[in-house]
Amino acid sequence: MKKAKTILITGANKGIGFAIVKALLEQFPETHLFVGCRDKHRSVAAINSLTSIVPGSESRLDAIIMDVSNRDSIQNAASQIESLLLKRGLRLYGVVNNAGIMYSPTGVEEVIRVNTLGPKYVLEYFIHLLEPEIGRVVNITSAAGPNYLSRCSDRTHKILTDQEVTWKHILELTKEFILQYQESSDSEKELLNSNVYGFSKACTNALTMQQARSHKTVKINACTPGFIETDMTLPIAQNQGKSPQEMGMKAPAEGTASCIHLLMNDVNTGHYFGSDCVRSPIDRYRAPGMPAFEG
Ligand SMILES: NC(=O)c1ccc[n+]([C@@H]2O[C@H](COP(=O)([O-])OP(=O)(O)OC[C@H]3O[C@@H](n4cnc5c(N)ncnc54)[C@H](OP(=O)(O)O)[C@@H]3O)[C@@H](O)[C@H]2O)c1
Repeated sequence: MKKAKTILITGANKGIGFAIVKALLEQFPETHLFVGCRDKHRSVAAINSLTSIVPGSESRLDAIIMDVSNRDSIQNAASQIESLLLKRGLRLYGVVNNAGIMYSPTGVEEVIRVNTLGPKYVLEYFIHLLEPEIGRVVNITSAAGPNYLSRCSDRTHKILTDQEVTWKHILELTKEFILQYQESSDSEKELLNSNVYGFSKACTNALTMQQARSHKTVKINACTPGFIETDMTLPIAQNQGKSPQEMGMKAPAEGTASCIHLLMNDVNTGHYFGSDCVRSPIDRYRAPGMPAFEG
């Protein structure tokens, strides 16, 4: 019998994370999935809907309670997954850092904590579980990252596109962003709130390069799912009085392709991919269908 490919997907109770779990269940019968969710009730509801959509999938799913903004919660989730793997004599095949937020009423720090520090600490606590030479990590970032870098300061651009970027430099930039927010007026805060999502995703694309350099035994890449209709993006359509389709949003199932490509196909490491599964630059937008980035 083929050994199960075990994969953790964070923020998998809804939206793109849920769609990734569903696609893996349907398309890759050898997978066993750890469905990450920060809330117990939402995790039960997610497992119930997955098992009703994909009959017989109960034995291929484990709910994992995990808040990626909290290091203790990440560590507890890693211990839980470690014992589940030990029981089954398996290693971890993949981690998908999908959990993300676009905005927080508490300010920019929470967005950075979830979108950038989350993937950093998840890898820190899970790297020893990943199977050497085989393991995969996919950081779900966004085209908002390249868009942000196409119009940020020269200094930020230089730091976040440097192939030798260090975590210290990324962290320093995040601290500066938070300090700037704390010291700004209400109108400046509004602008920083609208920029923090792109900034946090640009930091996570840089983090991906740094993680790939530091952990050469596994393949670590980032990708955007595309513009997808979820609870995250629906308010954008509502604010503009348009339907998600009029806005060009696609269904969650269509947002799974780049992640599944990076999990399952033969790929290099340390790169960022567009929603069409094609390698893309991290400092300017590459539309689907355009030539691949080769830098
Ligand atoms: N939708 C798009 O067009 C689009 C485009 C580019 C990139 N993305 C990225 O795709 C990923 C998924 O987004 P989505 O559109 O599917 O959004 P979504 O429907 O809002 O789902 C976000 C998921 O992340 C979870 N989450 C948020 N904070 C968390 C935390 N601290 N710990 C653990 N889980 C947390 C949410 O859990 P709760 O239900 O508990 O809140 C939810 O499961 C995000 O990283 C997002 O930035 C989305």
